[in-house]
Amino acid sequence: MRYLRLACVNICLVYLIHMFIARTVGEMREYRRGLHGRAAFIPTLGALHAGHISLITGARKLADHVLVSIFLNPTQFGPGEDYETYPWDLNTDLDKCREASVAGVFCPSLDQMYPPGQVACEVRVPQLGNVLEGKMRPGFFTGVCRVVAKLFNIVQPDIACFGKKDYQQARVVEAMVADLAMPLGIELFATVREADGLACSSRNAYLKGPGRKQATCLFKALAGAKLLVEEGGEVDPSVVESAMLRRLAAHQAKVDYAVVRHPQTLAPLDCLEPALTDGVVALVAARVAGVRLIDNMEIGVA
Ligand code: PAJ
Repeated sequence: MRYLRLACVNICLVYLIHMFIARTVGEMREYRRGLHGRAAFIPTLGALHAGHISLITGARKLADHVLVSIFLNPTQFGPGEDYETYPWDLNTDLDKCREASVAGVFCPSLDQMYPPGQVACEVRVPQLGNVLEGKMRPGFFTGVCRVVAKLFNIVQPDIACFGKKDYQQARVVEAMVADLAMPLGIELFATVREADGLACSSRNAYLKGPGRKQATCLFKALAGAKLLVEEGGEVDPSVVESAMLRRLAAHQAKVDYAVVRHPQTLAPLDCLEPALTDGVVALVAARVAGVRLIDNMEIGVA
């Protein structure tokens, strides 16, 4: 029994020690070339939480190796946003990756990703990227697409995993990959939530005291919208959107948008007929206690 326990500890240690950490583009490329089998990739900004870990766990079932990038990408943050204060700690994130049996982590410096003097390239998906988040945060999706395209070129995964928590981002990335014929598959994973419904997010760390409780209003508004359509049979999007706005206002949330849209095109709908559009999606962005949060919920999906 003692030997078995020792053997287990040794195996765990070997596993812990063997996570590869690439800090330069060259190191990442060389490591990738040496990997046999399929690689699933999860790009992140860091400050890893249960949502990120669920992508890692899900990715393990899809590929032989799970690769993660941790890079706080400045090109997707606007002026006055939280690039400087993002609640980020690389060593804690690396420990979480080790615990989740990640094979390799790419954590490049700013200069590795954006060498000084290099002429910038833009990747735009205007039809999907200029609405909702793209409208509220100009340049956000251009920054996301540029870094994600670049990470795909460096890491060369067979599959990349994204969370539905950032629903519009997932649709934008899918469109970029399809239109530019990038040689990889995109897998989407369900949103991980706290027990009270609040979607896990790195930015939840900014929520203190009553603000944390107040923040559940996004989930409550979305759950109410789902109920209205699925149980109440409501087909008028403006009725559902007004109900969400009322719920958010009751919690003193400052709303950027609270809408119901087509699940693929994110276009407004005249009539909610989930059976015809393969579901619909309700999306919300609001500031609660000074913290900007986004969330969404699929409605009428079989
Ligand atoms: P980040 O916010 O770190 O999120 C990384 C991935 O984790 C994204 O695919 C996101 O949708 C997913 N995720 C976040 N919270 C989740 C939750 N509660 N449940 C399930 N998945 C969740 O999104 C970014 O980083 C960046 O824009 C990035 C794609 C890395 C480009 O810089």
